[in-house]
Amino acid sequence: MFGLFKKSLEVQDVPVQEKQDYSDVSAIAEYFKSETGVTFDEQVSILKNKVTTFCKQRDINSFNTLLALIKKEKQTKQELIDHLTTNETFFYREFKQIEELSVLVKKSTRHVEILCAPSATGEEPYSIAIALLEAGVPHGSFNIVGIDINSEAIKKAEEAVYREKSVRNLTPEIISKYFTHNGDKYSLNNSVKSLVRFKLTNLFDPSFKNIGKFDFVFSRNMLIYFDKETRLRAKTILENMRKSDENEVFFGHADLF
Ligand SMILES: C[S@@+](CC[C@H](N)C(=O)[O-])C[C@H]1O[C@@H](n2cnc3c(N)ncnc32)[C@H](O)[C@@H]1O
Repeated sequence: MFGLFKKSLEVQDVPVQEKQDYSDVSAIAEYFKSETGVTFDEQVSILKNKVTTFCKQRDINSFNTLLALIKKEKQTKQELIDHLTTNETFFYREFKQIEELSVLVKKSTRHVEILCAPSATGEEPYSIAIALLEAGVPHGSFNIVGIDINSEAIKKAEEAVYREKSVRNLTPEIISKYFTHNGDKYSLNNSVKSLVRFKLTNLFDPSFKNIGKFDFVFSRNMLIYFDKETRLRAKTILENMRKSDENEVFFGHADLF
């Protein structure tokens, strides 16, 4: 009798395991879009797979639990942002626009400030720095700020150590002038690194505007991850980062409105 009683107590003590439920990712998708602008409306199954992997890696049993966590814990939310944003980029991507910028910067008689939003892992702002130096713009007459919402991308940008894939568009002359090549690594020299400052920021965060005003704004290949309404909202935010509306924001060719 006593044995039986003890057993039933033990069963009651076992914490109720939350049922595993990775079925409906829509609430996560909605929250992620409202926070970052990034939409998965056309890629629900890709999102579901990615979020399921994210949950399993952290022993999170359901999308509902994850949603509660990311609303509460900054760190988990940042990890999810790092997991779900695409940071594909490379040096001298869509170079024609960088050449156009060089012409404009060369004409300027003042110190020039350039915003690169988003910078991802740094290849774009560093490309701008290299191109300006190559065009004869003096060191010290310009500076560049790169921002991105992905903390791993910002960390890599600050390290500025790249692989072959990133530097594939650069000539051997540019590589030997601005990088130290060691094995499969290309480390950017300090002379270029010092021209760019990075900041982990969400474009839609109200604090974004506090980073200042800029003579030129680059924003390429980010709006493609937003829906039409969010793209227009981002366009206005980015245009307001300019010191004057004389110069258009440089958007990527795929960033159609
Ligand atoms: C494909 S990369 C583009 C990088 C570079 N501009 C280029 O064209 O090569 C897109 C970047 O946008 C960033 N991103 C997405 N939503 C953002 C937001 N709300 N605020 C800031 N960065 C964001 C991502 O983290 C990602 O690094």
